[in-house]
Amino acid sequence: MFFHVLTLFPDMIMSGLDTSILKRAMERGIIRAQAVNIRDYTLDKHQKVDDYPYGGGAGMLMQAQPVYDCTMAVLSDIEKRREQDGLREAGKPTRVIYVTPQGKVFDQKMAEEFAKEEELIFLCGHYEGIDERVLEEVVTDYVSIGDYVLTGGELPAMVIIDAVSRLVPGVLNNDESAMTESFDQGLLEYPQYSRPGIWHDKEVPPILLSGDHKKVEEWRREQSILRTKERRPDLYEKWRNEHDRCQ
Ligand code: ADE
Repeated sequence: MFFHVLTLFPDMIMSGLDTSILKRAMERGIIRAQAVNIRDYTLDKHQKVDDYPYGGGAGMLMQAQPVYDCTMAVLSDIEKRREQDGLREAGKPTRVIYVTPQGKVFDQKMAEEFAKEEELIFLCGHYEGIDERVLEEVVTDYVSIGDYVLTGGELPAMVIIDAVSRLVPGVLNNDESAMTESFDQGLLEYPQYSRPGIWHDKEVPPILLSGDHKKVEEWRREQSILRTKERRPDLYEKWRNEHDRCQ
């Protein structure tokens, strides 16, 4: 999987991805990432990439030209590389994801869908957004990470890259992937405990010390269901409806 992030802050992206599990996956060549500076594509002699919005209003907008040229350059590199490598995906359109609070809200299902791609392009806006005309020409997916407004698209792009990367085969080792299986079924994770057996007068639930794997599994599933019902009634209702349908 190769992530291309079009941004005015390339260092933010590369330093954000250069830690822990994603760093390990990049070192192993399982995932690749590049941050492309949109400013490098401006034709303005002062390197300007933003201007005032027509009709007035607060703030500045990113202009169409640098965003368009940057996107086209990355798309053309991808296509050239695919043709050279004789990849079966040659000619297949690459998804260009614009991260914006106006997009569809990102969830695990969308992460699974993105993880099937071989390359993904993220377009990060700043200031008050990007000229609508270029969005109409290049964007295939409008994605939000939640109903709040951040200062730019870099953090949302990194959130999505993290969630997608951990679904790419080989990125997580066995222990790490087992860790979050429950969410895959639409339920929250059960509570977990480690040593010591008693801490602040609180005991670890005795069933976890019983050695009875079947009982432990049953207990964990029950806890997952209870926790989802209590903390995320919306997810619980969805899970119940799907569960009832499968019975
Ligand atoms: N850019 C600013 N806020 C955002 C959000 N909530 N999701 C995606 N992109 C954003």
